[in-house]
Amino acid sequence: MAQLWGGRFTKATDQLVYDFNASIGFDQRFFSEDIMGSKAHVKMLAKQGILTEEERDEILVGLEGIEKDVADGKLAITSEYEDIHSFVEANLIDRIGDPGKKLHTGRSRNDQVALDMRLYTRSQVEHTKDLLHHLLETILSIMEDNTETIMPGFTHLQKAQPITLAHHMGAYFEMFKRDVLRLSDIYERMNYCPLGSGALAGTTYPLDRDYTAELLGFYGPTVNSMDGVSDRDYLIEYLSAMSTIMMHLSRFSEEVIIWNSNEYRFIEIDDAYSTGSSIMPQKKNPDIAELVRGKTGRVYGALMGLLTTMKGIPLAYNKDMQEDKEMAFDAMDTVNGCIQLFDGMLETMTFRKDVMEKSARHGFTNATDAADYLVGKGVPFRDAHGIIGRVVLYCIDKGIAIDDMSLEELKEFSDVFEEDIYDAISMYTCVNKRLTTGAPGKEAMETAIASYKEFLKK
Ligand code: ARG
Repeated sequence: MAQLWGGRFTKATDQLVYDFNASIGFDQRFFSEDIMGSKAHVKMLAKQGILTEEERDEILVGLEGIEKDVADGKLAITSEYEDIHSFVEANLIDRIGDPGKKLHTGRSRNDQVALDMRLYTRSQVEHTKDLLHHLLETILSIMEDNTETIMPGFTHLQKAQPITLAHHMGAYFEMFKRDVLRLSDIYERMNYCPLGSGALAGTTYPLDRDYTAELLGFYGPTVNSMDGVSDRDYLIEYLSAMSTIMMHLSRFSEEVIIWNSNEYRFIEIDDAYSTGSSIMPQKKNPDIAELVRGKTGRVYGALMGLLTTMKGIPLAYNKDMQEDKEMAFDAMDTVNGCIQLFDGMLETMTFRKDVMEKSARHGFTNATDAADYLVGKGVPFRDAHGIIGRVVLYCIDKGIAIDDMSLEELKEFSDVFEEDIYDAISMYTCVNKRLTTGAPGKEAMETAIASYKEFLKK
């Protein structure tokens, strides 16, 4: 047991208590951030005359040595230390002696951990954004290739109107684009440095918090020291954004599962992204999509867990806050992994364009357009709706599509039908007449694609 405290204790910590309290098992994840924060702290202490330049340099060399030895596998981070902060400080003192004991001047583990977690999360926010960026590129390339690939659009999972694959993919582009923007917003709000908040009430040393903040790439220091050590809002916002990403991935996964089913056959998932059955030889299962859908629950769990942990904590720091880490780390790993896997699955899947188009043709997805055709010939919309409803019933009975009916048959329902009906209800016309902003028509879609390219350039 290597602890940073003990002066006022007369007994050793009970082993179970030690284990229960320790966080080294998981906070070693931000070892680099801890070193980074310590380096900035000592530079600032020396600039302010609180440490001498020699002391600063000895500490910096010591910290770099620890970093290198850990990277080279010469120094192991073990459970002998209570947390990563204790590990670094104890090793520094072992290495350089007395100057090492001055590292913690004007600092508490409370502001130190607040800094480390914020630094780590900040880099994760960037990492998640990069992964989403790549996913958006994949989606955009499918869009570019499929502005004319007709498929049925659904409401209530019932065929509704024809759309294109580009249009369907565009809806997901919008979702993940918002996710990227959400992460950027969070970054803007979180990028303030808590170091210098001390245990809760700042410190009497003349720290230059602006300088430390600047060294660490923050916009500035946090403004209230009690909030500085106990704010986890940024993490809650991040987990909320991560939960939204998972909700989007999960909806997309659900569609992939449906499209890949034997009944739909709209897509074929690549062998490299599918799994088999131990008993049924014919099986090729969409396990990746199912796992992404399934893992959504644990990310929501992290968000709910942290919200609940935070809700009863009086100001300022309390040990409850140590619980932020495992949940958040698990969520980060889960979401980042899911984005990558989903992206790979999407990039490699095959779209059965013929099956998609056939499905649109045989689902009366042009019924609205047929009604609109009658409206164009002067029939009031409500009457047109009724006429086409009866036409559909007739077709269902015969097992045909509206397009398969002869003009004579159509005229039985309304004498305004003319030869031009066939062109008016062709899938191609149905889609390409829809040219308002946001609609699936090819020209409208090309405008959207151009704006997405601009977005990805930024
Ligand atoms: N392991 C602690 C955490 O994660 C570090 C801060 C400890 N501070 C304290 N006063 N015990 O929150």
